[in-house]
Amino acid sequence: MEDVTKLKLIHYAIFLIPIPSSESDLAKFSSLRLLALRTDPSLFGSTYARELAFTPEIWRSSLDLDGRVTFVVSDDERGGKWIGTMSLLGPDALRNIPHDIPKEILRRGELFNVVGLWVHPDHRGQGLGSRLVRAGFDYVKNYSRGSMEDISMDNKLCIEKLVMLKASKDNEGARALYAKEGFLEWEDGDAAWMIRTVS
Ligand SMILES: CC(C)(COP(=O)(O)OP(=O)(O)OC[C@H]1O[C@@H](n2cnc3c(N)ncnc32)[C@H](O)[C@@H]1OP(=O)(O)O)[C@@H](O)C(=O)NCCC(=O)NCCS
Repeated sequence: MEDVTKLKLIHYAIFLIPIPSSESDLAKFSSLRLLALRTDPSLFGSTYARELAFTPEIWRSSLDLDGRVTFVVSDDERGGKWIGTMSLLGPDALRNIPHDIPKEILRRGELFNVVGLWVHPDHRGQGLGSRLVRAGFDYVKNYSRGSMEDISMDNKLCIEKLVMLKASKDNEGARALYAKEGFLEWEDGDAAWMIRTVS
């Protein structure tokens, strides 16, 4: 018997937005992000009103931030329309922007923070959220920083790569997805960090 789930997924593609981002990619990404903030206002650490006021320069500096990569899901049945996204803030980004990651996590290794995971409601429940997260894992596995060249092989092996994120405790759907993808809870007061190693 044919696997219906696989057939459904065939017309979706997941890819990284090339940096520096083109004008067209910036326009598509800002529309997608604003739609996410309008559709699920309680699930992100930002608001529709705040980001609606972003200038093109702010969108560009956010998307092209050094150490940030952004994945997109496109629906090839609908002319390549962008219907899902997720970003990873890698070690270089986290060094240069304010964040509230607990020190105990920061000390553990090379960190990658998942932010802005969103799948359009019409396309949920088909495995796309998981595919975005796994695309992130593949990126992290293959990641190596230029300066790592100078580190001895023994020390390279000691550096643990960690993927982490913060998801509201009320957001049961997202937390179930992350748990399914191997993330464990990191209790830190009210904050709801989840974390997993990638090797
Ligand atoms: C969370 C979100 C990205 C999931 O996207 P999705 O494409 O529907 O997720 P998937 O189909 O890949 O689901 C994978 C697994 O996650 C879990 N899951 C996803 N949505 C769920 C829900 N609403 N309730 C319970 N479990 C859920 C299930 O275990 C599912 O596996 P299963 O289908 O085999 O049971 C999507 O619902 C969304 O964009 N939500 C709003 C934004 C958001 O919460 N972002 C995360 C901020 S931290």
